[in-house]
Amino acid sequence: MPKHIVVIGAGVIGLSSALLLLQSEESANYTVTLLARDFPAPFETIDPLAHINYTSPWGGAHNRWVPPTASGEGTREHAFALATFARMRALADEAPGAAAGITFMKGVEYLENPGAEYAALEAEGGEYARWALGMEGFRILGREEFPDERVKWGCEYDTWCVNPMVYCAFLLRRFVLLGGRVVRGEVRGAVEAFSFPFKDGIGEKVDAVVNATGVGFGDDENVFITRGQTCLVAEPCDATVTRQNADGSWTFSVPRGFDGGTVIGGTKEPDNWDARPSAEVREQLLERFVATYPKILEGTGREKLTVVRDIVGRRPTRKGGLRLEGEVLPGGRFVMHAYGLGGRGFELSWGVAEGVVEGVRKYFAGEEVKV
Ligand SMILES: Cc1cc2nc3c(=O)[nH]c(=O)nc-3n(C[C@H](O)[C@H](O)[C@H](O)COP(=O)(O)OP(=O)(O)OC[C@H]3O[C@@H](n4cnc5c(N)ncnc54)[C@H](O)[C@@H]3O)c2cc1C
Ligand SMILES: *[C@@H]1O[C@H](CO)[C@@H](O)[C@H](O)[C@H]1NC(C)=O
Ligand SMILES: *[C@@H]1O[C@H](CO)[C@@H](O)[C@H](O)[C@H]1NC(C)=O
Ligand SMILES: *[C@@H]1O[C@H](CO)[C@@H](O)[C@H](O)[C@H]1NC(C)=O
Repeated sequence: MPKHIVVIGAGVIGLSSALLLLQSEESANYTVTLLARDFPAPFETIDPLAHINYTSPWGGAHNRWVPPTASGEGTREHAFALATFARMRALADEAPGAAAGITFMKGVEYLENPGAEYAALEAEGGEYARWALGMEGFRILGREEFPDERVKWGCEYDTWCVNPMVYCAFLLRRFVLLGGRVVRGEVRGAVEAFSFPFKDGIGEKVDAVVNATGVGFGDDENVFITRGQTCLVAEPCDATVTRQNADGSWTFSVPRGFDGGTVIGGTKEPDNWDARPSAEVREQLLERFVATYPKILEGTGREKLTVVRDIVGRRPTRKGGLRLEGEVLPGGRFVMHAYGLGGRGFELSWGVAEGVVEGVRKYFAGEEVKV
């Protein structure tokens, strides 16, 4: 009898995990159901208020390398980002044209107040540090390349951006082609998925659940939201540019590609549940970005960016970081948790999905689940 696995959540984490389960060596023994309240849909049609708790549509989404600190903080996340980078490259090569919604381009970073982990990349031995971090096309920028003198450090590297809903819809299609089942529904907790009344009668018995619910059920006291306001503009951009300002604020661009425009951001506001965008914040974000990267307007004959729409999203953040672990609930019900990705869900997605597949495999093999 194949094992029936229910993945709750069709954001980038649930989709990647569900797809990878069906691509794993054990897939012949798996039946996978994707159960979610929200599914990928064209970005243009998603109601921003009704679906605000579904974070994936509101992401940029780019990969920005975050070097681990000297004490090793962020090492696991960096490994997940590298795993994701490799799979994004393979997907972009293998799915030609617009199928996957992935674009490779330069990532540019400007820092007003660089932390020690950035300085280390430049210090003696920095060559090795950079090589060990596995970043491709890495180059430290010269001062003459900085946009202004408040910037103290800068670099560029090769990276990818996705158009989130083009990419998520691609993952969903692949999942279905491999025999995955899709069910729209809402549960109040992971436990409920073990007795979900599947209408077609398939897989009534559930052997394991993957909890990829993002902002989700709200019973993990470590989970909180980080509000992000960005603005989608019509202009394309040739790079994903990120500036970390001395006051802690951020200025960035994430080109979406595939006629998706460019996301200009952005705020990071812990525990702010305001679902409405602020026009004042939008003006400031756009102004600051053009000042940092005037190239975005070069050759357009325009002095201002063309606003398409404001975006407000809730990053599913977690104190202590993402939760990727197996838990056996009362009654021997196995739940593989995969949530709390904060502002990095896309860039860590494949690393997390690999962990989910490994955790599920170990559970069925009777091994201790530690990923
Ligand atoms: C403004 C902004 C910019 C961002 N930029 C980037 C970026 O550049 N790069 C990057 O990597 N990340 C970025 N992020 C973060 C990224 O979008 C998130 O980390 C990611 O989307 C989280 O995905 P998820 O699958 O965990 O959750 P979600 O996308 O929220 O998916 C959760 C899923 O669970 C389902 N669900 C929840 N509760 C239930 C329930 N009770 N019953 C049934 N189903 C349920 C939902 O319907 C949905 O399908 C950004 C976020 C914001 C807001
Ligand atoms: C499927 O499960 C059977 C029985 O547990 C096992 O012998 C077989 O190796 C499994 N196949 C795969 C592809 O994992
Ligand atoms: C989003 O989640 C919060 C917290 O669980 C909830 O109060 C709110 O009703 C949800 N919003 C929507 C539109 O579903
Ligand atoms: C599942 O994930 C949510 C976060 O979306 C969390 O609040 C909850 O505690 C997790 N576990 C269970 C058993 O639902």
